[in-house]
Amino acid sequence: MNIIKVKDYPAMSEKACEIITKHMKSNKRSVLGLATGSTPEGLYEKLVHKNKQGEITFQYTSTFNLDEYIGLDKNNPNSYYYFMNEHLFKHIDIPEKQIHLPNGMAKNKQQECDNYEQLIKQAGNIDLQILGLGLNGHIGFNEPKTPFDQRTHIIELDESTRQANARFFNSIDDVPTEAITMGIATIMGSKKIVLLVSGEKKAETLAKVIQGEVTEDVPASILQKHADITVIADEAALSKT
Ligand code: GLP
Repeated sequence: MNIIKVKDYPAMSEKACEIITKHMKSNKRSVLGLATGSTPEGLYEKLVHKNKQGEITFQYTSTFNLDEYIGLDKNNPNSYYYFMNEHLFKHIDIPEKQIHLPNGMAKNKQQECDNYEQLIKQAGNIDLQILGLGLNGHIGFNEPKTPFDQRTHIIELDESTRQANARFFNSIDDVPTEAITMGIATIMGSKKIVLLVSGEKKAETLAKVIQGEVTEDVPASILQKHADITVIADEAALSKT
């Protein structure tokens, strides 16, 4: 694992933006894997700025998001589609047909998972995957004990994940109980991975991810086995490492 220690959240966003910008400049038809959550918000803001300034273009970029809640449609402010549109897509020059998120409203959810996997394969797999880290060590929505060999699938959300994400909803009862997520095997198939972690709240989990044993109890620990993984974390997040 290549670990880059930065001072704080803005520095983490800046470093991530630098790496992605460099990657996009040398890979014109890049396939990007994107994440939601508070962690990548600063990065997206910076990418929007670079796009507006004409330094990078998304015209030939395809994107695949990690996950989506089941039961929330695109217009629901808590859906990940809505989040991505607000924070990135509506501000950049990416053609809509090149944007992909699992459809949490699909009638046949299993079919939707299989189709999503197929689309990623057809795109030639993900070139650069951005990841955040769940408090319980999840990546995407792969909760602890998810088998490492799973591809895109339906997952029941842990109570702790629902609690952690309840801050975005009116009440915990409104937080969906299920999601569609890329699997660990899908994520590990990405050519390059950048994991972003900020804040003391994540410090204990990050220490397990970096130094602990590779176990399905801590899904992100599998990243130790990836050939091209960069962790960009701030001092607070690395305080227990
Ligand atoms: C969510 C997402 C993850 C994200 C994680 C951390 O559950 N499914 O992709 O990495 O939460 O979120 P945050 O960045 O807000 O801490």
